[in-house]
Amino acid sequence: MIQGPIVILTGAGISQESGLDTFRCAGGVWSRHDLEDVATPQGYRRNPALVQAFYNDRRRQLEDAAVRPNPAHLALARLERDWPAPVLLVTQNIDDLHERAGSRAVLHMHGELRKGRCEACGRVLEWAGDMTVESLCPACGKAGRVRPHVVWFGEVPLEMERIFQALDACALFLSIGTSGHVYPAAGFVAHVRERGLAPTVELNLEPSQGASLFHQAFYGPASDVVPRFVETVLTGDDLGPV
Ligand code: APR
Repeated sequence: MIQGPIVILTGAGISQESGLDTFRCAGGVWSRHDLEDVATPQGYRRNPALVQAFYNDRRRQLEDAAVRPNPAHLALARLERDWPAPVLLVTQNIDDLHERAGSRAVLHMHGELRKGRCEACGRVLEWAGDMTVESLCPACGKAGRVRPHVVWFGEVPLEMERIFQALDACALFLSIGTSGHVYPAAGFVAHVRERGLAPTVELNLEPSQGASLFHQAFYGPASDVVPRFVETVLTGDDLGPV
């Protein structure tokens, strides 16, 4: 019987059934774009207009009425609402589907599509529309210094200290819809295992890179597997051997 705080890690797989492409599945984002060009500081310096256009396309996708939270997002919001201890949702995703599903304690370790950051004054800004190389910072007024508030390869993910504090205190670690390719997120399960105090569970379409590190795993589409797992946790059903 699990009692205590829960830490959930999500990746692009949880948003796939909402119509947002994953990165490494067949036909995924990195099969159509070179990540060196659109998701690194070097690529941004080489061609900022290309990078801004890449994120503008993805930001516009969030406006599509067909892109909305799916049952997996909604189940995690239910778990946060009904669980008697804190639930921290650490997401690698830069979309806002967890928030739109009702999750409140969401930590975007790779940043957010709907935010910009001014490289002149450092302010993080809400940003709904297109961002260009001429965009003005609404805080300091400088032109051409606003970039997507997204963590690129080679940059440090956000709020890592807070994440590891939560991992060290959790009673359950749940990983959903991530391939386990990208660190430090891919290392969270090993960190929890080292402490040896909390069950680690993977919910994914297929075994991730770190599958062998999880005590338990349930495979299938997130919109099916996640609501069922949340029901199991909330009804206090035993998770079985961990
Ligand atoms: N339900 C559950 N899991 C799914 C579904 C689905 N409907 N569809 C795909 N998946 C799984 C895939 O099997 C895969 O393991 O989701 C995972 C997606 O893996 P990636 O495309 O690698 O995405 P992610 O793990 O989130 O990538 C991590 O890499 O490119 C960077 O910053 C980017 O945050 C991203 C990070």
